[in-house]
Amino acid sequence: MKKASLVVMISGNGSNLQAIIDAIQAESLPAEIKAVISNTREAYGVERAKRAGIPTFIKVKRKDQDREQYDAELAEIVKMYRPDFVILAGWMRILSMEFIGAFPNRIINLHPALPGTFPGVNAIERAWQAFQNKEISHTGIMVHLVPDEGVDLGPVLTQKIIEIKPQDTLEDLEKRVHQCEHELLVETIHKTILQSEESHA
Ligand code: GRF
Repeated sequence: MKKASLVVMISGNGSNLQAIIDAIQAESLPAEIKAVISNTREAYGVERAKRAGIPTFIKVKRKDQDREQYDAELAEIVKMYRPDFVILAGWMRILSMEFIGAFPNRIINLHPALPGTFPGVNAIERAWQAFQNKEISHTGIMVHLVPDEGVDLGPVLTQKIIEIKPQDTLEDLEKRVHQCEHELLVETIHKTILQSEESHA
């Protein structure tokens, strides 16, 4: 079976990137990470990629550039690696159509909340706070396609409910969410690769 080519885009710790690397190394995910792209120099995920022997590319937005120019350049970089899928694993910049339009149906994003809830940054913290205010009884995570500029919006590939316990600190909830994300992201990439193989068979 041909391995799917991935480009993984990150901005920070890269624990989800690590989950993908681990699954590939364990041969439970038929994929190859062609490159890891970061928009910040400080992202620890870049170290993780280097340690795994994966090419890395740091693309910081210049002050004289607008968002569209940056995204167009970013798209050119990602295209060089000819990815079957582009994985946004903690990529913290909102992408414009200059980027998204270059990879139709091939961009996959991970959001640490259920569809339609807590879009944008600090989703886990906002869910924890909403639970304290008795506004929600549980939270969750989702993996979805990115068809347009909607933040954490798009056709849902998979989702999972995550319970919040009354005694949970924010740190407890963050830990539980991240563990579930690592599993769901890898599972979803796997499922999506298999589906795309079937549709091309
Ligand atoms: C994850 O919670 C992801 O859902 C969100 O940013 C976080 C990235 O974590 N978009 P990491 O960099 O993969 O550790």
